[in-house]
Amino acid sequence: MTERFNNAASTWDKGDMRTSIASSVFQTLSNRIALKNTMDILDFGAGTGLLSFKVRPHVRSVSGVDVSINMLEQIELKNSDGVEVKPICQDILANPLEERFHGIVSSMAMHHVEDTQKLFDTFYTHLKKDGFVAIADLEAEDGSFHSHGNDGVYHFGFERETLRAIIENAGFSNVRFHHAYTVEKEVQNYPIFLVTAHKVV
Ligand SMILES: C[S@@+](CC[C@H](N)C(=O)[O-])C[C@H]1O[C@@H](n2cnc3c(N)ncnc32)[C@H](O)[C@@H]1O
Repeated sequence: MTERFNNAASTWDKGDMRTSIASSVFQTLSNRIALKNTMDILDFGAGTGLLSFKVRPHVRSVSGVDVSINMLEQIELKNSDGVEVKPICQDILANPLEERFHGIVSSMAMHHVEDTQKLFDTFYTHLKKDGFVAIADLEAEDGSFHSHGNDGVYHFGFERETLRAIIENAGFSNVRFHHAYTVEKEVQNYPIFLVTAHKVV
């Protein structure tokens, strides 16, 4: 899977689909979560930083964590003196970070992680008290979304109620689902949700 993203990195931002998803996810997120210039945010599966760079002007810092070094190199290339995202190449499920964040955001990365419960357990431990998660991914689909094949795709989207139970089981409260975007393809449409939740203790 990492090889797939390493190969795709240099052309990842080409075309409208991925940038449109990131823009709509950011709009939905910023309507639901009050971003503040005192916040340190982690973007999980940040890729080339499409979501990270939308969030960055509104907060103190954004760290983009990913297992693909080539995707993260694209973040380095976009970094400027005024707007920087910190790239971190690490599988935080296996090797957690020391830092604790005010919020974790993510777009279209969760379906590439096999163990969703472990992912939310990991998010929980990486958050400060009162921290939030805002995670966007596909509603349950039939496996046709990835037109180039399902290598490294562990979930064909997510059933909301199954995911809600996983998130609550990790210890989160106030789990809310919001419609974020719909990818329109020739044969069918693929809705994307943003789920938000808080670590209250
Ligand atoms: C579909 S891309 C989405 C990238 C970006 N969020 C966007 O919206 O363009 C999924 C990303 O998740 C990353 N990824 C997959 N498993 C991961 C893991 N365990 N930890 C960190 N990143 C992971 C991949 O390397 C890839 O860059």
